[in-house]
Amino acid sequence: MSQTSSGHLDHVLNEERLFPPSAEFTQQAVIGSREQYEDLYRRAAETPDEFWGAEAREHLHWFQPFEQVCNWNTPHVEWFVGGKTNASYNCLDLQIASGHGDRVALIWEGEPGEQRKLTYNDLHREVCRAAGALRQLGITQGDVVSIYMPMTPELVVSMLACARIGAIHSVIFAGFSSEAIADRNNDAQAKLVITANGLYRRGKILPLKETVDEALEKSPSVKNCLVLRRIADQPTPMTEGRDLWWDELVETQSDDMPAEPLDSETPLFILYTSGSTGKPKGILHTTAGYNLWAKRTFQWVFDHRPNDVYWCTADCGWITGHSYVVYGPLAAGATCLIYEGAPNQPGPDRFWDIVERHGVTILYTAPTAVRAFISWGDEHVDKHDLSTLRLLGSVGEGINPKAWMWYREKIGGGRCPIVDTWWQTETGGIMMSPLPGITATKPGSCTQPLPGVIPKVVDESGHEMGVDEGGMLCIAQPWPGMLRGIWGDEQRYVEQYWSTVPGMYLTGDNARCDKDGYYWIMGRIDDVINVAGHRLSTIEVESALVSHPSVCEAAVVGRPHEIKGQGIAAFVTIRDAEPDEKLRDALRQHVRKEIGALAQPDDVRFTASLPKTRSGKIMRRLLRDIAAGEETSGDTSTLEDYSVIAKLRNDEE
Ligand code: PRX
Repeated sequence: MSQTSSGHLDHVLNEERLFPPSAEFTQQAVIGSREQYEDLYRRAAETPDEFWGAEAREHLHWFQPFEQVCNWNTPHVEWFVGGKTNASYNCLDLQIASGHGDRVALIWEGEPGEQRKLTYNDLHREVCRAAGALRQLGITQGDVVSIYMPMTPELVVSMLACARIGAIHSVIFAGFSSEAIADRNNDAQAKLVITANGLYRRGKILPLKETVDEALEKSPSVKNCLVLRRIADQPTPMTEGRDLWWDELVETQSDDMPAEPLDSETPLFILYTSGSTGKPKGILHTTAGYNLWAKRTFQWVFDHRPNDVYWCTADCGWITGHSYVVYGPLAAGATCLIYEGAPNQPGPDRFWDIVERHGVTILYTAPTAVRAFISWGDEHVDKHDLSTLRLLGSVGEGINPKAWMWYREKIGGGRCPIVDTWWQTETGGIMMSPLPGITATKPGSCTQPLPGVIPKVVDESGHEMGVDEGGMLCIAQPWPGMLRGIWGDEQRYVEQYWSTVPGMYLTGDNARCDKDGYYWIMGRIDDVINVAGHRLSTIEVESALVSHPSVCEAAVVGRPHEIKGQGIAAFVTIRDAEPDEKLRDALRQHVRKEIGALAQPDDVRFTASLPKTRSGKIMRRLLRDIAAGEETSGDTSTLEDYSVIAKLRNDEE
């Protein structure tokens, strides 16, 4: 086991500052007393069936009531067995039925500055039309639809349209390459791809349709491609008989299409994420449990009130966008802002300009963004009035105390609680987080578990660690939002999550719990790296590198990066090629083409050999040390030296 982010640990070990919420915040909070939290927590832990049964009856719409709350047969779980509901109904029809039809559901801003507002009534109409279009294309319950779109209302509409008819969406982040799209299409046997004819990113147009076309050459299961005309007059290749324009097909459909009553465990979506092997895994979430988890965690953690303007800056290509742009906030009747583009377009103050103009009250973003804002300078923040903000959130990786303090002081004006939310694609929603009305926060800690979450920090034999002792973070009881499997790979599901510590879900993170019962995440136990809050497997990047004809062997490790948290360092051995700048650039471009821009290595170093153990395992820890060092010239000699040291060390072991 490797304690990956020991640097991070050093930073947070001595963190003793405590920031209690203001009395004013506490007074109005959804969870406003420690007793209330303790009561919820105790009931969810001791009588989960009673607790979650009542939660589900109160917070979801049931076409048919469920007969059993939880059927737990390790490692398989079913929640709300026998019931019928629909996530699209919960997010739309239920809001309208509760009298919120005229409330704004989505506020959208495109990068060039266009703005649209859709009420719950508007969104309902758009989703019904899109669902009609899906039906017309022959999509039925259980079919997989890949969605590769910019952050537009139509992305949200597409997800909810799938949910409405029981189709399974697989959203692929619009920065992934054609190879990555094809892999995902094939793994899920997608029948339809929904895309757009481009998106704006830092003032440039990215031609998404061309990328999808390349992927479709290798995706035999895909029969049709539905294309949103995001950019008027953009020349777009369309294949007769396969490709259809959104405005021609969707906008002619009926404004009403009843939501299909679906069994609680009907698959809602697949979302691909990186594990410790090269092949991304399709994490499966189902309808009722996930929707309930997303909704209740949203309400608890973000202390949502009807007048809030809530902005989660994540893209729907990631789990945060699924749970906290779409399924959580909409099921809670929230007004959500979505923004298409880059945070520094046209200037480094774009986010603060948006907050000011729209009167954002809750902002949920990632530490990598906070670090970028710090580096761009306070003057861009100072230009704007951010006094509408009342709550700040952080997600994706640990937020180091320095960035936490800046976020609190500079963005939150010292008055907004910060909720540092720990969770994963697999958990479906937030698992540990401060509750803003009651939790005194410590910079760098995700503090305490939410009701229904029973965390355990254990060693390899499953024994619980003591106070402040690092160990593997596991979850000891099923919760409604947990993943139901890996698409098409039962064995990997069991091995990855349920085989290390019997009976417990293995998160893959290291953590420690302090004397106050606060949790501190200490990094991964596997070969997953976290680049700008996004998960990548080092092996995935290595596979991309070795698919280049000049590369014999590659080893990829994470290294500290000031903005991205972790950057990617690649060590490669080559054949029939010169170890020069040109090749280095070609390799970086190659990875970009194979996986996407976020996987492009920051450093590529050429070496004659890679340091290995006697059994042939690459000594990653050593490479991590080298990658973290000052030496970045790409000179091979250092590694050669280290390689010798590695051999010596190995002999001693
Ligand atoms: O290592 C943890 C880190 O991100 C991983 C989950 O990544 P992903 O499935 O892509 O989901 C990201 C959005 C939920 C975790 O295993 N991580 C996420 N949030 C935090 C975190 N590490 C520390 N503190 C957090 N708040």
